[in-house]
Amino acid sequence: MAPSALSEAMTDPFESLEQDHQDVDELFDQFAQMEDDEEGEVDAAKIEIVEMICQKLNLHAQLEEEIVYPELQAVIDQPELIDEAEAEHAAAKELIAQLETMDPSDPEFDSTVELLAQSIRAHVAKEESEIFPMGRESSMDFSRVSASLDARRIELDPEMDDSDDDDEEESSSRSGRAPSGAMGRLAG
Ligand SMILES: [Fe+2]
Repeated sequence: MAPSALSEAMTDPFESLEQDHQDVDELFDQFAQMEDDEEGEVDAAKIEIVEMICQKLNLHAQLEEEIVYPELQAVIDQPELIDEAEAEHAAAKELIAQLETMDPSDPEFDSTVELLAQSIRAHVAKEESEIFPMGRESSMDFSRVSASLDARRIELDPEMDDSDDDDEEESSSRSGRAPSGAMGRLAG
């Protein structure tokens, strides 16, 4: 793959991860604002949002675990923070796996999403207040890590490649698209 303009323009590898955090936070907010109804429409919308949350979290966790955490572990003063972060990812993945088997009409569905939101928000707060600042002050090769991160992101989510500003197009195609990946079973 040719070097992309993106990796030249954005050499802080933590920026894209923080953007992921913000995207997921907004989705959790959207979910929390949804009301139940009898028409089944809200259930479909809930599935769609939870599917997006879980896909984003799975991708994000994989990028951190494969690329960023090993780099951080090698350079920061408190590498045990990375072990803790990995344990938090594992706990979040268990909640995601539970959600995959649940229906929105399940009485535990909303509370499980809320639990996931709480656990992710605590994890994100630790990353953004402690771990990423240590990384930013470390001797890490930011350009190399950013390039690896960008390339892997496109590999895992090819839609990222040309979806810069097509939010409208993306959301209209998303609703008609068959669910794929980790959350496929949720909508099945
Ligand atoms: Fe993260």
